[in-house]
Amino acid sequence: MRLLDKDFELFVTQQEIESAIARIAQEISRDYGEKCPLFVGVLNGCFRFSGEFFKHYNGACEVSFVKMASYQGLTSTGIVETLLDVSAPVDGRDIIILEDIVDSGRTLQQLVNHFADKNISSFKIATLFYKPAAYTKEYEVAYKGIEFPNEFVVGYGLDYNERGRELNDLYILTSRWKT
Ligand code: IMP
Ligand code: MG
Repeated sequence: MRLLDKDFELFVTQQEIESAIARIAQEISRDYGEKCPLFVGVLNGCFRFSGEFFKHYNGACEVSFVKMASYQGLTSTGIVETLLDVSAPVDGRDIIILEDIVDSGRTLQQLVNHFADKNISSFKIATLFYKPAAYTKEYEVAYKGIEFPNEFVVGYGLDYNERGRELNDLYILTSRWKT
């Protein structure tokens, strides 16, 4: 499968991804069943994850989105800005971040900082994909879907230069093309 100048191969199927999402939704339902958490999806990558997540989450909740930017092409630029902020009031709320993937953790750290000076009740991260070898931060990721090595992937919301987000399965950069 080719996107722009790069070749990718099938890595994780939609079925495996969606059973991981169902599991995360069950874990969070169990932990927050009596509360009304505010889910904050991180755009654009979280759109598939969040859509599937709420098929399985069955408690009272609110849903909002933020938009950050850090990636250009295959590597993080190190610059993370907030392009869109949470629209709902966050005072006293239990916040759960919905991230597509945690890589270096820079975006996550920025989100932690963003909420640190707000008067929220609790803060947890749920990520669909996780690269433990790339993660350089101390902050504990509470809910993780699928862990894999430090490789570049696309599909199920994740992009390569904005391509591939619509793909139903997850694809990995073919090694002979690795930069
Ligand atoms: P971090 O700030 O380095 O943890 O990167 C987090 C963000 O970078 C994610 O929300 C993704 O948008 C993007 N990202 C990280 N790894 C990949 C990847 O393998 N493919 C596509 N996007 C990625
Ligand atoms: Mg993203």
